[in-house]
Amino acid sequence: MESTSKEINKLRLEYSKEILDEKMVNSNPIVQFDLWMKEALNADIPEPHAMNVSTVSKEGKPSSRIVLLRNFSENGFVFYTNYNSKKGNDISENNCAAINFFWPQLERQIRIEGKLQKVDSKISDEYFASRPHDSQLGAWASNQSEVLKNRQELEEKFVALEEKFAGKNVPRPEHWGGYCLVPDSIEFWQGRPSRIHDRIKFTTVNNEWKIERLSP
Ligand SMILES: Cc1cc2nc3c(=O)[nH]c(=O)nc-3n(C[C@H](O)[C@H](O)[C@H](O)COP(=O)(O)O)c2cc1C
Repeated sequence: MESTSKEINKLRLEYSKEILDEKMVNSNPIVQFDLWMKEALNADIPEPHAMNVSTVSKEGKPSSRIVLLRNFSENGFVFYTNYNSKKGNDISENNCAAINFFWPQLERQIRIEGKLQKVDSKISDEYFASRPHDSQLGAWASNQSEVLKNRQELEEKFVALEEKFAGKNVPRPEHWGGYCLVPDSIEFWQGRPSRIHDRIKFTTVNNEWKIERLSP
């Protein structure tokens, strides 16, 4: 443990690939997000749509986990999950949330904050129908975030579902669907030498995006 700590203590990376300034960014942060996501998609980054989502319990205790961004637009940022999971329970008590992307290959981070709402059930139906058969069964098999006796319990449930739905369409479970994070702030971070990084933050003020540069 000590040697690992020593090793990470020595890690020093200078960021120098790009710059970011107020004149370069699009005045619409969703368009700017689209530009950066396109660059991430073209940069051979594994799972560039993987993002950390942080929620807060009713007691004010934060927790975070990775999920996959499946859609974004002027309306917000959409991911799919189990509504009865730990995160689903948090969101039902407090719908404030934060999303974070880190793309080391581009020396970039994007931080998004806002409120989560369930997407329309028809949209969840459409997305669920587009998933592979086994992933659809997985959504039925997993009581996400609940304690299992062992792995066998889950595998037996999956096999029973394979038999039940053999050759049939799998309907979307009611407890599984999308959340859309409607953003009220979006920050673009570009690493720069000597830790003098660029941070450009958009915040909604009277339904308009205000743009500011933050100290690194
Ligand atoms: C790369 C990656 C992608 C993931 N994508 C999702 C996802 O899209 N939806 C989801 O519910 N969980 C996804 N997970 C699992 C979550 O990180 C987490 O374990 C699960 O959602 C339970 O979280 P919770 O107990 O906080 O609700 C993913 C995990 C990883 C590492």
